[in-house]
Amino acid sequence: MTIVFSMLVRLFILQNIKFIMNIPEIKKICCIGAGYVGGPTMAVIAQKCPHIRVAVVDVNEQKIAQWNDNNLDNLPVYEPGLKEVVKEARGRNLFFSTDMDTEIDAADMVFISVNTPTKTYGKGKGMAADLKYIELSARKIAEVATSDKIVVEKSTIPIRTAQAVRKILANTGNGVNFQILSNPEFLAEGTAVSDLYNPDRVLIGGEESEDGKKAMDALTSVYNNWIPRERILQTNIWSSELSKLVANAFLAQRISSINAISALCEKTGANVDEVAKAIGMDTRIGAKFLKTSVGFGGSCFQKDILNLVYISRFYGLDEVAYYWESVIEINDYQKNRFADSIIIKLNNTLSDKKIAFLGWAFKKDTNDSRESAAIYVADRLMEDKGIIAVYDPKVGEKRMHDDINYLKTRDEEENDKLLQYYSDPYEAMKDAYAIAVLTEWDEFLDYDWQKVYDNMIKPAYVFDGRNLLNHEKLREIGFNVQGIGKVNK
Ligand code: UDX
Ligand code: UDX
Repeated sequence: MTIVFSMLVRLFILQNIKFIMNIPEIKKICCIGAGYVGGPTMAVIAQKCPHIRVAVVDVNEQKIAQWNDNNLDNLPVYEPGLKEVVKEARGRNLFFSTDMDTEIDAADMVFISVNTPTKTYGKGKGMAADLKYIELSARKIAEVATSDKIVVEKSTIPIRTAQAVRKILANTGNGVNFQILSNPEFLAEGTAVSDLYNPDRVLIGGEESEDGKKAMDALTSVYNNWIPRERILQTNIWSSELSKLVANAFLAQRISSINAISALCEKTGANVDEVAKAIGMDTRIGAKFLKTSVGFGGSCFQKDILNLVYISRFYGLDEVAYYWESVIEINDYQKNRFADSIIIKLNNTLSDKKIAFLGWAFKKDTNDSRESAAIYVADRLMEDKGIIAVYDPKVGEKRMHDDINYLKTRDEEENDKLLQYYSDPYEAMKDAYAIAVLTEWDEFLDYDWQKVYDNMIKPAYVFDGRNLLNHEKLREIGFNVQGIGKVNK
């Protein structure tokens, strides 16, 4: 009943807002938010559309300075291939700036690509998305716009956010017209540039009205500069908003499914990698996103599922909420199971024992560690007084300490003692009782494992949370190796 009613209300609102947009061909784009999504996405749009001026603005001055740094190794986002794109477009038609007001007003199209973290306070705490930055962005656009604009939601947001944005723009603007589009980003970190060059699809949701169609066509024509028209989908705005959450939920659900099976494999003698291969060759199932791991991380999966759970509960769909919540429960179970297996193998006592972590990022080829499994595994081991010696090729010391301090499990002084950063992997592993592989960085494969073994405390353990390394070879050297989803010899 509630859903039918709210759909009728939406239909009524949509049909009764008649904007007469004055949007010419898109010549200027502004993006609010120069983060992992806004930065790479805009850089690729600028590269592929030299006739469009693209400005990326951000409240964070330091981040903008990094995007403008002459040394391209200092960009705030590490992504393979990104440096080259920025080098080509920056200063030509790609600009990074803190002058939000000027850039927003100059643009025909404004993307909102700010972060939408899980709420840490009040109603929906720990579940709902915090839309305060989206709201701030909408208010800013309303305040400074003196000409008609298309506003594009790029951030992942709960379904019906467009309605909130529209309400703000309609009630606080300077009498100019706005069209709101939803254009969720499906890029994955670590492969952002190639995903942007060659996406499976681009999704654009808009109002079901003449102006809505015009706005969708305007954005379609931007992407059509390099993406075939048949891969650009136009839908209603609610389908587009919901599809992003659902896509992430389905991907995460596959990982939790194979991780649940990994526990069963360890008990039965099956090998999870063989099972994943066998089921993945069934074209109805498909091979991707079946790699067992220490648990998924990243800024999106957990947050988006929590969002889906919150919305489902809001509509009284408790069974639906429970179903999706279990995907997160399995993910937590997997992280805890991994940490506990280390504690048990080291005789239930980690006090003063050095445990080397290979990797801190939530996946390879990124410097992002948001919600990384490494943080939670480290925290659990630190509860047992283990000394965690971390090496990651791209994540720096400050970031690691911020990640662990954010959990507030113990005071910062204690965290500083127990979490140690190393810039050299061999130093991190020297005199360690165990090595835990948390991220699947390629370089770990090429280490001199004999040298590593010689410098460790015996028995020397490897806990491979990514089933990355060559376990047979490590066993020949003398390591005691524990993989995931395999009976460990
Ligand atoms: C992504 C997605 O866009 C978002 O949907 C998801 O919820 C989180 O991940 P991402 O680009 O990865 O966002 O976030 P982040 O790297 O944190 O970048 C957001 C940027 O927006 C930051 O640089 C922040 O300074 C900026 N910002 C935030 C503003 O400029 N103004 C604000 O009011 C808030
Ligand atoms: C995800 C979605 O893939 C992307 O479409 C969306 O726009 C943002 O969220 P991202 O979080 O950047 O992208 O990376 P992804 O490759 O999906 O990996 C997420 C996590 O799942 C990582 O921790 C990764 O290691 C883990 N993972 C992925 C597995 O454990 N097994 C797999 O088979 C795949």
